[in-house]
Amino acid sequence: MKRIAVLTSGGDAPGMNAAVRAVVRACAFYNLECFIIYKGYQGLIENSIDKANARRVNNIINKGGTILKSARSSDFRTSSGRKKAYNNLTKNKIKSLVVIGGDGSFNGARIFQKEFNFPVIGIPGTIDNDISGTQYTIGYDTAINTVIQVIDKIRDTAISHNRLFFIEVMGRDAGHIALHSGIGAGAEEILIPEEDRGLKKLLNSLKKSEKTGKASSIVVVAEGDKTGKNVFELASYVEKNLPDYEVRVSVLGHMQRGGAPTCFDRVLASRMGVFAVESLIAGKSSVMVGIENNQLKLTPLENVTKIKSATNKDLLRLTDILSI
Ligand code: F6P
Repeated sequence: MKRIAVLTSGGDAPGMNAAVRAVVRACAFYNLECFIIYKGYQGLIENSIDKANARRVNNIINKGGTILKSARSSDFRTSSGRKKAYNNLTKNKIKSLVVIGGDGSFNGARIFQKEFNFPVIGIPGTIDNDISGTQYTIGYDTAINTVIQVIDKIRDTAISHNRLFFIEVMGRDAGHIALHSGIGAGAEEILIPEEDRGLKKLLNSLKKSEKTGKASSIVVVAEGDKTGKNVFELASYVEKNLPDYEVRVSVLGHMQRGGAPTCFDRVLASRMGVFAVESLIAGKSSVMVGIENNQLKLTPLENVTKIKSATNKDLLRLTDILSI
């Protein structure tokens, strides 16, 4: 019987559990033996591997985080670490590996697959939505919905005090979370890593907001925004230049990665998990599952890269119009 193992790697994302459940249950459905690996690649190196049947994944579709735990393994970046991982897979007679994670995890998967000619298939799970070969990654929809709920709450207090808030959201390299949550929550300005529109524009826009009688202003800032100033420096810069504003800062941090997955993420993860197993059965490997126009597809891991959104420019233009 064919033996398949599954792990979650990199930053956890809501919906990863739904994907694990889908992989384990698809294996059970197709009479394959399924193994779960704890703590990502690190657990593989440490032989932290268990057999899993369909009942092992009861009641996890609705849970945030990952029951398999996750890690960013530095050992897996070394060839001796990868050799240990390979030995543990062969020791357990595992014939293929499903990796649920982001682009860093797929880099590892690609190298591993090449080194040992070991069948690997990727499922994109990251709140950042910054992977080529798929329109959506698992966890992104939940994260942006978490963020808009929080910004709505901050807006309540901002209006009550006529304040300006700088809100930092995740996204070291890509502004998807900032742009989508910013537009969804009616932010006045959005600062992203992809584009530096200049501090002058920020000041002018805030001046305009004040003149036109806005009771509050929200500036959503992605972690890796291009202004070169962090969210606290931005706040003091604006306080200095526009002293009429009372400014506050909120850094949302890791709360964006937690919580129950949305229905969208649960369905996406379920579809991707089953498709991954079916693709392995069909003999595919060294590919990542993705979704485009609601159709599941496979992209060679070689072509999977970290991406920024082509629609970002247009969404920024939209903010300019809507924040008038
Ligand atoms: O990759 C997802 C992500 O949430 C990024 O947006 C963020 O910059 C990073 O992970 C934080 O990683 P860590 O939890 O390792 O600090």
